[in-house]
Amino acid sequence: MPDDAEPAADRTRHPIPATRWPTAAEAAAGRWFTPVTLGPITAQTRTWVPAMVPWRASDEGFVTADVLDWYSRFAEGRPGVLVVEATGIRDVPSGPLLRVGHDRFVPGLRDLVDRVREHSHGETRVLLQIIDFLGIRRRPEKVRFFTRFLTLTDRHREALHTRGTTTTDDTTLRAAFADLNDHDLRAILTPREFRDYAFGWREEVSDLDQPHIRDLPRTLPPLFAAAAARARDAGFDGVELHYAHAYTMASFLSRTNIRTDGYGGDPQSRVRLPLEVFAAVRERVGRDFCVGARFLGDEAIAGGSTIDDATFYAVQFARAGFDFLSISKGGKFDDSRQPNVGETAYPYTGPSGHECMPTVRSDERGPFGRNVPLAAAIRRAVHAAGHSTPVITAGGICTFDQAEAVLAAGDADLVASARQSLADPDWFMKVRLGRGDEVRRCKFTNYCEGLDQKHKQVTCQLWDRDFAQDPTARKTADGKRRLLPPPWQR
Ligand SMILES: Cc1cc2nc3c(=O)[nH]c(=O)nc-3n(C[C@H](O)[C@H](O)[C@H](O)COP(=O)(O)O)c2cc1C
Ligand code: SF4
Repeated sequence: MPDDAEPAADRTRHPIPATRWPTAAEAAAGRWFTPVTLGPITAQTRTWVPAMVPWRASDEGFVTADVLDWYSRFAEGRPGVLVVEATGIRDVPSGPLLRVGHDRFVPGLRDLVDRVREHSHGETRVLLQIIDFLGIRRRPEKVRFFTRFLTLTDRHREALHTRGTTTTDDTTLRAAFADLNDHDLRAILTPREFRDYAFGWREEVSDLDQPHIRDLPRTLPPLFAAAAARARDAGFDGVELHYAHAYTMASFLSRTNIRTDGYGGDPQSRVRLPLEVFAAVRERVGRDFCVGARFLGDEAIAGGSTIDDATFYAVQFARAGFDFLSISKGGKFDDSRQPNVGETAYPYTGPSGHECMPTVRSDERGPFGRNVPLAAAIRRAVHAAGHSTPVITAGGICTFDQAEAVLAAGDADLVASARQSLADPDWFMKVRLGRGDEVRRCKFTNYCEGLDQKHKQVTCQLWDRDFAQDPTARKTADGKRRLLPPPWQR
């Protein structure tokens, strides 16, 4: 299992794509900086900054001054659409991640929207990505797991007795378990028990024996609807329903969803709750509020959903009236690297994580525009079904030429860039002004993603290059890094 996370042997280091930046006139003549409608709203350009968690919320989930500064800085580059990080829909403690599960979060979110409007001069449309996630625990210490957490069953007792353990006392049996090596433990434990021990316990949507998991089809639609209504009250232009990566809604869409209650199994049943969530949201916020979704064009895991599932879902979503479809890839727990004891599994560490945020160390296709074919197939399917729902692609987009080629080919309607925008949030403006040679170009080596993994304030390694010359720059909590991108003089 842990070996899965090792870089595949076929990966080589790819250079950052060479490019000739456009003049201002060439940029204006292109497609990327032209308007596009997303249901009830119009984005001034087809540029898009997808959700990125920067770990700057308060421990109670509130918007902080650092959150405001972060989004103000992205707004200065005036992307057509800026999606605010994954924000929890429940009113439960979840560490320094933004939350929208109660009305008390609305004033802070309203400040955030105001700052984006102000710093983009009203140009950027701002969406809130709303998310639900299931329970997950840290990888336990071995003795602790077997003495405290494992539910001893007769199957365990028999297996130990077969191996020569004579005692019937549970305390001694637990101690005997803790003495076994992983090879023997794999033979005795169920795959799920072994995973709880080796990776840490986590819930799954198919755990129908758990009442709160069984009830998700009842509890989630009103939770998402209330969260979306709060986003509307805070002044957002819309919401992005987070149906991607390792989280609850993506797990419903996954081929690994084996629920037997009409919400799992075949594709129609797997898409049922995502459609019901959307219907509840739409009913609550009305037609004049933009509601779209981010979901996976391919889960990129063994036995997971593929582009065939994704095109089916996309057509269902388009028919239901989603205002946009933002396509991502991978980012699953299923193949994540084994965490250290005391840490939680992180869904971007395995091969599917690489597909989600590909680095320069990649296979022959390389990381640049790697996921465009998924968006293209989805857009084709949506159009063939008679819909024109805008499709957004992301993944290794870092030049004007790449974005233009995607749009010219009709592979997507908007082109997103996460890490290139993190490296240089002014880059859209620089390109528009014909000053592309000033773009601070992302290295795609995922220093930022490593910080995200450790739940540290996310920054870019490139921001620190001129740190020594700028003693006034604000620092991260560890005092070592620049908290915000260096300013750019227009
Ligand atoms: C630090 C960081 C945090 C991210 N957080 C989110 C998130 O909250 N929600 C989401 O859908 N994707 C998240 N992503 C994934 C990005 O939105 C994007 O899909 C991915 O980085 C690939 O695009 P890129 O090659 O332009 O960076 C995150 C990426 C990074 C680097
Ligand atoms: S830290 Fe590296 S991968 Fe992340 S945005 Fe900066 S240059 Fe790009």
